[in-house]
Amino acid sequence: MERTLAILKPDCTSRNLIGKVIDKIEAAGFKILGTKLVRLTETTAGEFYAVHRERPFYSELVEFMSSGTVLPIVLEKQNAVADFRTLIGATDPAEAEVGTIRREYAESKGMNIVHGSDSPENAAVEIAFFFSTKELAENGCE
Ligand code: RTP
Ligand code: MG
Repeated sequence: MERTLAILKPDCTSRNLIGKVIDKIEAAGFKILGTKLVRLTETTAGEFYAVHRERPFYSELVEFMSSGTVLPIVLEKQNAVADFRTLIGATDPAEAEVGTIRREYAESKGMNIVHGSDSPENAAVEIAFFFSTKELAENGCE
């Protein structure tokens, strides 16, 4: 079984969309192994997205991700990484397929509701960024 990391971003939490987004995630067959509500500092948000530090949108991204609470969620499913990327849709909601989380709820390319790991290797790194092994349920909510 594969794992991926989702983060419900500050636009999702501030617009009271946590329940609606988790509903879509569970309906798509993902099991929740762990979650918590956290507020990232600019330093922590910058570390998480360090791969983008040379990109023009980096400072905007760091500011946004540290602007409110976020909800990281460890998810498990067969083919979790790719299936979750399909479920959330393209980075820019205007380009995301109908029925995807970003198409339904996101307002812009920057404020796009949810993060999803882009490879199983990065998923493992990102899960460890937020969660200790002790914080994760073995089989998710059964
Ligand atoms: P994420 O990492 O959050 O799941 O998003 P992604 O893979 O679809 O997109 P990525 O290229 O990794 O970009 C990370 C986040 O940076 C913001 N962004 N803004 N204004 C822009 O042109 C722009 N491009 C990217 C978005 O919040 C994006 O999700
Ligand atoms: Mg990405």
